[in-house]
Amino acid sequence: MNVKKLFDLSNKVVVITGGAGLLGSQYAEGLTQAGANVIIADTNFEACKKIAKKLDQIYDKNSMPIKLDITNKKSIDGMVNKILKKYSKIDVLINNAAIQGNPKLRTTSFEEFPESEWGKALDVNLTGMFLCCQKIGKVMVKQKKGVIINVSSTYGIVAPDQRIYGKSGQNAAAFYSATKSGVLNFTRYLASYWNGKGIRVNTLSPGGVEKGQEKEFVKKYSAKTMLGRMARKDEYVGAIIFLASDASSYMTGSNLIVDGGWTAW
Ligand SMILES: NC(=O)c1ccc[n+]([C@@H]2O[C@H](COP(=O)([O-])OP(=O)(O)OC[C@H]3O[C@@H](n4cnc5c(N)ncnc54)[C@H](O)[C@@H]3O)[C@@H](O)[C@H]2O)c1
Repeated sequence: MNVKKLFDLSNKVVVITGGAGLLGSQYAEGLTQAGANVIIADTNFEACKKIAKKLDQIYDKNSMPIKLDITNKKSIDGMVNKILKKYSKIDVLINNAAIQGNPKLRTTSFEEFPESEWGKALDVNLTGMFLCCQKIGKVMVKQKKGVIINVSSTYGIVAPDQRIYGKSGQNAAAFYSATKSGVLNFTRYLASYWNGKGIRVNTLSPGGVEKGQEKEFVKKYSAKTMLGRMARKDEYVGAIIFLASDASSYMTGSNLIVDGGWTAW
């Protein structure tokens, strides 16, 4: 047994959708430290470039920023072509990009919630994930090897407790629960579908991250976790490295919940 080797991602090519976001950028740094060549893919290309530049300076790497819209097949095709041209393989896909919706609609009642916003969320949070899995899964089937991590949320497992939001504006819309819950069984479907093909597919379900939300909300949220606090933005990096590496070689079709105990009582 060699524990360091288990978690080692040296020379692995890892695509992170939503790589410019709060958590995606943390994954990019953690995976780079673990040795991976990261592809930071996001609609926000300027942010992708900034993150890649910073990582390259610190870790002497050559990370790849890519402008990607996961709802657009051509955009995904373009990304995959670029990656294959440079690396000739894709080892890990992290389907992390998702939307929480227009902040102005966070307090809109379910009864009045616009169908167009529901549709947009389905397009990004589920169809976008489907398209990325379809395209990159094809590459992985050819390689006879690959790892896919789909990001869900505690709100894909349980409903948001409406009592904790007050005027915080942090309310999660119905589409968030619906799409994040869809991710769980989509993962199981793919793990089953690609059984025997060398592709492992798992879900990561994070809990809420503290990022300057209203104090009262943070207090109420924290009280609902066993650890008594929200997560720091770097607290899912260990789980991502575990799922991406051989450390999780016997795990597929599963859901890793990292939520401070929120869903456990
Ligand atoms: N932050 C949390 O508290 C939390 C909790 C549980 C689950 N999650 C999940 O973790 C993931 C990352 O969350 P985050 O907090 O970093 O969010 P974020 O909004 O900071 O990052 C999401 C990124 O996805 C990108 N994106 C949106 N639409 C896209 C598209 N069509 N194509 C490509 N990129 C697109 C955005 O530009 C953004 O950079 C999401 O799936 C989210 O649902 C987050």
